[in-house]
Amino acid sequence: MGEGELPPGPAMPPALQAIGWALRPTAMLRECERRFGEIFTLRGLQADRPYVFVSNPQAIKAIATGDRDALRAGEARGADLFEPVFGPNSILLLDGAQHLRQRKLMLPPFHGERMKRYGDTIEEITDRQMANWPSDKPFELQNEFQEITLDVILEAVFGFDAGPELAEARRHTRQWLWLLASPAAMVPPLRKAFGPQHAWTPAGRVRRRMDKCLYSLIDERRRDPGIAERDDVLSMLIQARDEDGQPMTDGELRDELVTLLLAGHETTATALAWAVELLLSHPDKLDALRADLPNGDEYLNAVIQETMRLRPPVPLFDRTVCEPVEVLGYRIPVGAVLACNIVRVHRRPDLYPEPLEFRPERFLESQPETYGWVPFGGGIRRCLGAAFALYEMRIVLRMVVERTQLAPSGIEPMRYFRRAIVLGPKSGARVTLPA
Ligand code: HEM
Repeated sequence: MGEGELPPGPAMPPALQAIGWALRPTAMLRECERRFGEIFTLRGLQADRPYVFVSNPQAIKAIATGDRDALRAGEARGADLFEPVFGPNSILLLDGAQHLRQRKLMLPPFHGERMKRYGDTIEEITDRQMANWPSDKPFELQNEFQEITLDVILEAVFGFDAGPELAEARRHTRQWLWLLASPAAMVPPLRKAFGPQHAWTPAGRVRRRMDKCLYSLIDERRRDPGIAERDDVLSMLIQARDEDGQPMTDGELRDELVTLLLAGHETTATALAWAVELLLSHPDKLDALRADLPNGDEYLNAVIQETMRLRPPVPLFDRTVCEPVEVLGYRIPVGAVLACNIVRVHRRPDLYPEPLEFRPERFLESQPETYGWVPFGGGIRRCLGAAFALYEMRIVLRMVVERTQLAPSGIEPMRYFRRAIVLGPKSGARVTLPA
C-alpha cells in the first residue's frame, strides 16, 4: 500500500468484515454510513486491498470521470476472479488503450436507436416464456425473467435462431452459470483449486464445452455469406474494424460473448424481479402503471428508474487507485479500491426526500442528478448494455403488467439475497397467477 490516508472504518478483523459483506451487504453499508458518514473503509473484501466506499455524488463523478490511468476499472475486477471465466480480452478486465479499442468496437450494436431492432425478438421470447407460466400455483418470476434474458442474449447477441442449436447452447450455458454461482466459485482458495483454469475440474470441463460451442458459432458466422444482412451483435462485431483497420480475433470475440452473457442477463432479470416485487407491494403504483400504459412509456420509465434507485442490482462500481488521489479530503493511497456506493447514494435524503419510499412519481417531477443515479456506473466504463437493458425491461414489464393479474405469494417480500455480484430479491419475486 502506498503513502496516503485511508478514511475510518469498522475496527473488526478483516475476515469478519468479509463475512458481514458476504451475508448482509446492505445492512453493513447502512451501518457504516451511520457511523462514519459518506466515505469509509472496509477490509477483507478482496485480498488485502482496502475498499473505500463513497456515496457523495460529486466525489462519485470525480472518480468515474477521473484520469483513467490513475483510476483503473479492469484492475479492480481482479484477474483471479474474472479472468479464468471471462478470458483475458474481456472488456471488463482491460484498461487504457486496449479497453478503449474494445469499447469502440463493441459500442455500435448497443447504440440507442440500433438496438431497437431487437424489440421483436424480445417480445417473441417473452411471449414464448409467458405461455408456460402456471396458473393458480406459486412460482418465482426471477427464474422466469432469467430464462427470458438468457434467450435474449443467445438470440439477439449470439444470433442463434430458435431451434436445436439454441436449445444446446442454452443447456451448456445453464450448466456453466450454475457452476459459476456455486460456493466453490465464491471462495478464493476453492476457486483457485477448482476453477475453470484447470482442465480437469467440472468448471474446466464445462468451460471447454462452452468454448467449443462458441468457437464453432464464430467460425460458422464468419463464413456466412449473408453476414452483412444479419443484425445480431456477433455478426456486427465480426465485421467491425478498429482505427488501424484490424478486426477482432476469435479469442476476443469469444471473451466478449461470454462477457455480454454474464454481464447482461442476470442483472437485467434481477432488476425486473425487483420491479415486480415493488409493484406488488405497492398496489396503488401498480394500478397507476396499468392506467398509464396505454398512453406510452412515461410512468413505466419512472417505475424502472425508481426500482433501480431503491433496489440497484449491482451494489457498487469500483476503480483501483494507481496514483494517489484526493477524495473528500483524504489522500487515498495506491493499491486501495474506490468503491462508488450505489446503494447509499441512491438513498440520500438530500437527493431523494423520504428515500425509503417507492415513489416513481419523483422521476416524473424531475430527472435525478447525473451522479446521484448510478445503477449502471459512469464515465468511460459506464455499462455498455445500459440502453439495451432499459429497453428490454420496458418491453418485458409492459407485457407482464398488461397481460397478467399477478398476485404476490412471497413469504418475505423485499428482502435481499446475494447471487455472486448481484443483489436480488430473496423471495425470487414469487407470485401466483389467478386461473
Ligand atoms: C439492469 C441491468 C444491468 C445493470 C444493473 C448493469 C450494471 C453494470 C455496472 C454497475 C457496470 C460497471 C460500470 C462502471 O464500472 O462504471 C456494468 C458494466 C458493463 N455492463 Fe452492465 N448492467 C446491466 C445490464 C447489462 C447488459 C444487458 C449488458 C450487455 C448485453 C451489459 C454489459 C456490460 C459491459 C460489457 C460492461 C463493462 C463496460 C466497460 O468496462 O467498459 N450490462 N454494468
